[in-house]
Amino acid sequence: MRERSSRFSGDHTVKTRMTTELSNPLALIAELTHRCPLHCVYCSNPLEMQSRANELSTETWSRVFKEAAQAGVLQADFTGGEPLARTDILELVRAARAAGLYVNLITSGLPMDEAKLAALVEAGLDHVQLSFQGAREEIANEISGARSHEQKLRVLEWLKQHRIAVTLNFVIHRRNIDQLEEMLAIAESSNATRVEFANVQYYGWAFANRENLLPTREQLNHSVEILKRAQERLKGKIRIQFVVPDYYAKYPKPCMGGWGRKLLLITPSGDALPCHAAQVIPGLAFENVRDKSLREIWEHSPAFQKFRGEAWMQEPCKTCDRRDQDFGGCRCQALLLAGDAAATDPVCSLAPLRPKVDAILAGMNSAPRAEIFVKPNWLYRPNPS
Ligand code: SF4
Ligand code: FES
Repeated sequence: MRERSSRFSGDHTVKTRMTTELSNPLALIAELTHRCPLHCVYCSNPLEMQSRANELSTETWSRVFKEAAQAGVLQADFTGGEPLARTDILELVRAARAAGLYVNLITSGLPMDEAKLAALVEAGLDHVQLSFQGAREEIANEISGARSHEQKLRVLEWLKQHRIAVTLNFVIHRRNIDQLEEMLAIAESSNATRVEFANVQYYGWAFANRENLLPTREQLNHSVEILKRAQERLKGKIRIQFVVPDYYAKYPKPCMGGWGRKLLLITPSGDALPCHAAQVIPGLAFENVRDKSLREIWEHSPAFQKFRGEAWMQEPCKTCDRRDQDFGGCRCQALLLAGDAAATDPVCSLAPLRPKVDAILAGMNSAPRAEIFVKPNWLYRPNPS
């Protein structure tokens, strides 16, 4: 189970004029597997997933971690699918730690038990990011297509026994955004020092389920009030981050902190991507870590060069004062909504295609409530073999 988090969006923004000078990657997003016990309707994995047979070996990942550290990477984010589905997860944690990387496990908490958690901490795990589908069993089961909520609450209790950093990630949308108070109560009963309330981003499976996930404007406004109050009340105790749904924003998020600027993602089979969804962009060829070193890929891969810097930009981004803050938004969203990956992200209020996004929101917000709050026929993410 994997969904986008703000760690991969606005968090890494640097408010300096963009230059063509190439900096080191800061974080490596290691998609260890696409296998997962959950079937989340907003998963950011591609619609075509990799099977177990194509996954990189322990040895190759270990080499990649060394190369990453040599290239300047500070942190490895283990994600998937569900990274715990890898039977060599302890070896992978040890290898990343031995390479000198800060190791973050982004997990659904399944399959996990007390002994496994203790072994992961012993192996050198620095941080756990536990994701929730809601505050109650019923909605969590509906969204993940599996029984998972009680297990997550158990994992939260086990985490209290370890000296390890904990972040909770609540992925929010129309069906669970009204449970924020209960989600906050879960966070307050845990030892998490950071909680993300991340609205679904519309790529992968979320794009396919978009019309049933978008919150209403009324829900969004109410959620902002609740979270602002919570930020004030919990200041100094829990850091609360809130990612608004792109479609309602005035300006787009700086996706990945800018294409090929800070982050790189390795798929289960070893392809190096500038972002999670880059494979939707036609004409991009991705290098594989089985064939080339990470530094070589970072510096020379045509896919990483394609939207690096400003030369590729069209108007209005090309001359916009905000281009060094949001880098023109998200290339994959531009492709999905405008049919052109080099277009200004259509969620931007200055984009020529913003009316398309406004029409999607207007259609949804004017529909009868009884219609938009009925339980939908979800398109669930399957589990690859
Ligand atoms: Fe960002 Fe481009 Fe919109 Fe300016 S026009 S705010 S650079 S997306
Ligand atoms: Fe934003 Fe690809 S997901 S650039």
